[in-house]
Amino acid sequence: MTVTNGKVSLKHLVTMETLSNEEVFGLIQRGLAFKRGQADFQTDRQYFASNLFFENSTRTHKSFEMAELKLRMGMIDFDAKTSSVNKGETLYDTILTMSALGVDICVVRHPDVDYYKQLIDSPTIQTSIVNGGDGSGQHPSQSLLDLMTIYEEFDGFEGLKVVIAGDITHSRVAKSNMQILKRLGAEIYFAGPSQWYSDEFDVYGQHIAIDDMIEEVDVMMLLRVQHERHDGNESFSKEEYNRCYGLTDDRYKRLKSTAIVMHPAPVNRDVEIDDHLVEAPKSRIVRQMTNGVFVRMAILEAVLNGKA
Ligand code: CP
Repeated sequence: MTVTNGKVSLKHLVTMETLSNEEVFGLIQRGLAFKRGQADFQTDRQYFASNLFFENSTRTHKSFEMAELKLRMGMIDFDAKTSSVNKGETLYDTILTMSALGVDICVVRHPDVDYYKQLIDSPTIQTSIVNGGDGSGQHPSQSLLDLMTIYEEFDGFEGLKVVIAGDITHSRVAKSNMQILKRLGAEIYFAGPSQWYSDEFDVYGQHIAIDDMIEEVDVMMLLRVQHERHDGNESFSKEEYNRCYGLTDDRYKRLKSTAIVMHPAPVNRDVEIDDHLVEAPKSRIVRQMTNGVFVRMAILEAVLNGKA
C-alpha cells in the first residue's frame, strides 16, 4: 500500500487497521473530488468486479455497484442463493474461481469474522479483496464514508467529541470507527446498554450515559440494534431502548447547533432514533449513503491503481 503524489494504491482493503493516516486522508480527498465532479478515472483497460454478498445488504451492495458503473467497470453478477455455494463450494473456491475468470476485484460480505485472511494469504488468488463487512469484525468502506461525512462537516478530526451509541459489541461499524477516529485525534465516548459493551473498548474511550454528553457531543454516531446477532434474550422493549439509549426529540433539542447525527443504516425507526429525526436538519444519515458511492469509487480506484 502506498501514496504517491496524493494517489493511493492498495492491494486489498480488508480492515481500517492496515491503512495509514495518509492513505485515509487520500481516500477521503479522492471521494470528495469524485463527489464534486473534479475527478475522473482514466484507463485503457477494461476492469471487472464481482460483489459477493453472503449476508443481506442494501447500501453497501448497491453503492459498490453504482461506484463500479461510474468507474466503467464490468460487473460479474453473483447470487449466493443460485451459485454452487449450494453444492458445497467453499468461500475460498468461489473466490479462486472469480480470480481464474479474470475478476480484478471481489467485494465480499460474509458472516465469518476475518474470512478474508485465507483469501489474501493465498499464493494462487490474484483478485483483490474489498471487505464489505465480516460478521461483527470490520466494515472499512462504511468507516471511510463516515470519515468523509465528518470531514466534510468539520474539516478534520482532532479534538472532535464523538459518541458511539448502541449495540457496540455486535457492530463492525463501531469497531472500525473507534480505532480510526481515536488514531485521527477524536475523543471517543461510548453509550448504550452495558451488556452490549466490553472492557476491550476502554482503550479507545469511556463508557458514559448518553445524557452525560448530549450537550457537548460533535458527532452522535448511532448504531443499529443487531437483532440477527443476538440470542433472543434482549432484556428491553423497543420503547425502553428508545427512552434509555435512543435519540429522542428531547435529546435532539439538547444537541449543539453544530452537532451532527449519524447512523450507518438500516435504521430501526423509533428505536435508535425517533422516526421524524432521521431526516432532521442535524441528521447526516442520507448524506452518508450518498457519500458511500463516492468513497467506494475512491476505494475501487485505489485498488485498480495497485494493479496498474
Ligand atoms: N450500512 C450498511 O452496511 O448497510 P447495508 O447492510 O444495507 O449494506
